[in-house]
Amino acid sequence: MREVQFQGMTFEEMITPSQISEIVSRVAEQINNDYAGRQPLFICVLNGAFVFAADLYRKITLPADITFVRLKSYTGMSHGEIRQVLPIYEDIRDRDVIVIEDIVDTGHSMHHFMKMLREQGVRSAEICSFLFKPEALEEEDARPKYVGKEIPKRFIVGYGLDLDEQGRNLDAVYVLPN
Ligand code: IMP
Ligand code: MG
Repeated sequence: MREVQFQGMTFEEMITPSQISEIVSRVAEQINNDYAGRQPLFICVLNGAFVFAADLYRKITLPADITFVRLKSYTGMSHGEIRQVLPIYEDIRDRDVIVIEDIVDTGHSMHHFMKMLREQGVRSAEICSFLFKPEALEEEDARPKYVGKEIPKRFIVGYGLDLDEQGRNLDAVYVLPN
């Protein structure tokens, strides 16, 4: 089994590159089927989702467009607010939006972002997340409709996900074992 070290901790490979490739193909097929005849707008949540989004988008056979948003959360204030530090410039009114995330953990950031999307008058909005920690979810409206893989409540890095901005370029997903 492959291992990587970050900050003195040893992470073990959990999802291999070939498994990732199967996951991406399966999720893309679901979206291609569900959105047949429509032109969805993908919104990739930076930074973490850019690797998954790049792979997924190339397997979408619909006339879909893609844009990017960067969210910053303010902790400390009762899971308070998120702000779009890189905002969406596209007109998203009446669009069928698919938000691409790297991982949904507590769901707080997606809960706030989905609220923003509804306020801006999208026709529909769904979440497509590469990884999902169901045991950590605290916001029901952040539950992703499209999930690459459900994982336990562990810290992971790789394939876009970082530990203090390191590890995003790993070609597999690595987990910090208990
Ligand atoms: P949430 O608002 O708690 O769902 O957090 C979502 C964000 O936290 C994700 O978009 C990631 O950027 C980050 N995150 C959550 N879990 C992990 C992890 O295990 N590794 C790396 N980043 C994570
Ligand atoms: Mg993220």
